[in-house]
Amino acid sequence: MSAPFGKTGLATFLAPMQDITDADFMEIIARRGPPDFYVAEYFRIHEFFEFEPRVLRAVLSRPGGRPVCAQFIGGDEAHILRALRELSKYPQITSLDLNLGCPAPKIYRKNVGGGLLRSPEKIRALARAIRENWGGVFSVKMRLGFDSSDAFEGLFSAVLDGGPDFVTVHARTVKQLYRGACDYSKIALAVKMSPVPVVANGDIWSAHKALEVARQTKCAGVMVGRHAVRNPWIFRQISEAARSETPYSPTLGEVRGYVGDILRSVLASSARYPDSRMKKYLNFIGASVDPDGAFLREMRISRGVPELMRVCDKYMLGGRARLTFPQEPYAGVCPRPNHEDRCQDTKK
Ligand SMILES: Cc1cc2nc3c(=O)[nH]c(=O)nc-3n(C[C@H](O)[C@H](O)[C@H](O)COP(=O)(O)O)c2cc1C
Repeated sequence: MSAPFGKTGLATFLAPMQDITDADFMEIIARRGPPDFYVAEYFRIHEFFEFEPRVLRAVLSRPGGRPVCAQFIGGDEAHILRALRELSKYPQITSLDLNLGCPAPKIYRKNVGGGLLRSPEKIRALARAIRENWGGVFSVKMRLGFDSSDAFEGLFSAVLDGGPDFVTVHARTVKQLYRGACDYSKIALAVKMSPVPVVANGDIWSAHKALEVARQTKCAGVMVGRHAVRNPWIFRQISEAARSETPYSPTLGEVRGYVGDILRSVLASSARYPDSRMKKYLNFIGASVDPDGAFLREMRISRGVPELMRVCDKYMLGGRARLTFPQEPYAGVCPRPNHEDRCQDTKK
């Protein structure tokens, strides 16, 4: 297995999202048109590191027949090399990604994830050590910098010195979290500098936007996170648009089917608060359900799974079932600010 470059068209990637992109969710996405490549949420590598069974299950899966890459966060070379030896016990894991972007303070204060972007020398040394000790595909997922993108060129060179097979660039700094404009000009710069493929990430909310970012940056692929949770048809739509075909246009009734698939997976996982877990997904989906944000408001105040599903039925079934689910989120209707930051803060 190798990363999906070199074929015609724009390669598509599902972004890793902690507590969201588990094996079931990736399979649910695959049924609506899989991306070329998935990256699973990170393993946190420290002295007492053990694989989290839920993440391991995701990494060992092959949703829609497409490969899943294992991602990790860590900064200590000895611990990372031990983790690589553990990983190589699983021949199915052939692809590994180093996280240089996590903005959760609990993470970056330990100088791992996004915190490593303050130490280009350390990035260079770590990446080289991984390259020398890992025979499979090795990639890096980075942001533009820690609190500014001014040092991006040097950081990107340090990453390249480590010899990755490809690099994904989220076009924001760590301090920007998930807000503020993406600076795609830095991705265009990375493409010019790089002998290996560069994948663009950040606010790719539709097939049209994917093609626009690809045109602007000349990237080899696009990685989509939150907008794939909102619209699981996005990978299919990107591939169709890249072939100059009209992208598939799902209905709200189909979105209700998608919500039903997520609910089955949440209930099967015996999550303690299934309605809260569902809201995590519906928070994204709701941005394209109605232009006034009424669905989001009602679903947020609902209590318990039956009431939550009644709200979904009200907005997605009956006379609304045949309405088109728009590719883009409605202007001004957005998931709760900071929700994602809290999601990322849960691993020690
Ligand atoms: C809830 C949530 C969890 C995330 N978890 C991870 C993670 O485990 N590893 C990682 O590299 N990025 C993680 N990210 C960042 C995304 O992979 C992606 O880079 C970011 O959301 C920007 O892309 P988007 O605009 O397409 O969502 C997470 C983002 C969110 C919203």
